[in-house]
Amino acid sequence: MLEQLMTETAPVNATPSTAPPAATPLLQLRGVSKRFVQDIDLAARIANLLGAGHRASVVHAVADVDLEILPGEVIGVVGESGCGKSTLGRVIAGITPPTDGSVSFLGKPVAAMDAAERRAWGLGVQMIFQNPMASLNPRLRVLDIVGEAPVVHGLVKAAQKAVYVEALLHQVGLDPAYAQRYPHQFSGGQRQRIGIARALALKPRLIVCDEAVAALDVSIQAQVLNLFLSLRRELALTYLFISHNLGVVGHVSDRVVVMYLGRIVEVAPTATLFSAPRHPYTRALLSELPTLERTRRTYLPIQGELPSPLAPPPGCAFHPRCPQAMPRCKVEAPVLRSLRPGHASACHLDDPVTLPTT
Ligand SMILES: Nc1ncnc2c1ncn2[C@@H]1O[C@H](COP(=O)(O)OP(=O)(O)OP(=O)(O)O)[C@@H](O)[C@H]1O
Ligand code: SF4
Ligand SMILES: [Mg+2]
Repeated sequence: MLEQLMTETAPVNATPSTAPPAATPLLQLRGVSKRFVQDIDLAARIANLLGAGHRASVVHAVADVDLEILPGEVIGVVGESGCGKSTLGRVIAGITPPTDGSVSFLGKPVAAMDAAERRAWGLGVQMIFQNPMASLNPRLRVLDIVGEAPVVHGLVKAAQKAVYVEALLHQVGLDPAYAQRYPHQFSGGQRQRIGIARALALKPRLIVCDEAVAALDVSIQAQVLNLFLSLRRELALTYLFISHNLGVVGHVSDRVVVMYLGRIVEVAPTATLFSAPRHPYTRALLSELPTLERTRRTYLPIQGELPSPLAPPPGCAFHPRCPQAMPRCKVEAPVLRSLRPGHASACHLDDPVTLPTT
């Protein structure tokens, strides 16, 4: 349905499936990890007084991620709930500091940036969230929601704020007269357009869309996805497009990153990921896509429950659910290995074969 609406209502994503390899990455992650320490609750603290020995738990929300985002690319990020997609997006947008590893914007590591460079990174990467109502201040008019930050950051003069906001509203497909209204006066799709206008107001290079259409009706989803794609062409934008829906990601992305329990398990150009996926987890996700009849017959659906991120399985974290698991998978974690330019997978099935010496 969504696929049909998108092809009916908008030009197809015209950009080639991979960005030029020679370009300097807009954003680069090297060995990025984010751990959250979840404190013990009151009951556990009382039990500790009696000698129980409960300890704080650590969630490895993002584990050792390397990623380059090239100018003009749309990178999709998929994976089940809790696999670290939002945390990854928040690290990229500078909202959540990583525990380990480095983030670079336009070739410069954040740790080595001066105040002006950090500001450029903060403005240059904007984030759009799932629930537009929650992220728009209900007491402010659209004029201030969209126009306040660019005035504060000196991108426009206060006297030009109204004209600037009206132009942005027009750009996202809203009536410029809506600048005087409040968030509760809009539908969900319109509110998400206001959220997009607010992000665009800061003239970003990269927009992190975190489940940005998940809360919308299917027909509205298609319209907002089409808006993202047309803005990409008009403004030469780059997107990190986070979604649990592989179908949505497949429509908008040039490359897809598949995450499982905090790690990247496969990354590939979108067409390759759909036609020749390597990782058993990617294949399981594809088997659940209702539109891919051929794929559904070929790959086994995902089995079992997602393990707790507080206690990920040893070896390959996917081994308890993997139809191709081998004894080795239970003890040895696979590394993300390049299979061909642009395509990498973390699975022992892709390890180079070592021939026995005679
Ligand atoms: N602020 C936090 N404090 C403690 N744990 C957190 C925090 N934020 C995220 N986590 C944990 O980190 C892991 C990854 O969460 P994250 O929200 O990044 O996943 P996600 O892939 O975006 O999930 P969803 O699809 O449900 O949005 C989860 O186990 C989550 O509980
Ligand atoms: S490493 Fe083993 S368990 Fe993990 S995905 Fe590959 S075959 Fe399956
Ligand atoms: Mg999330």
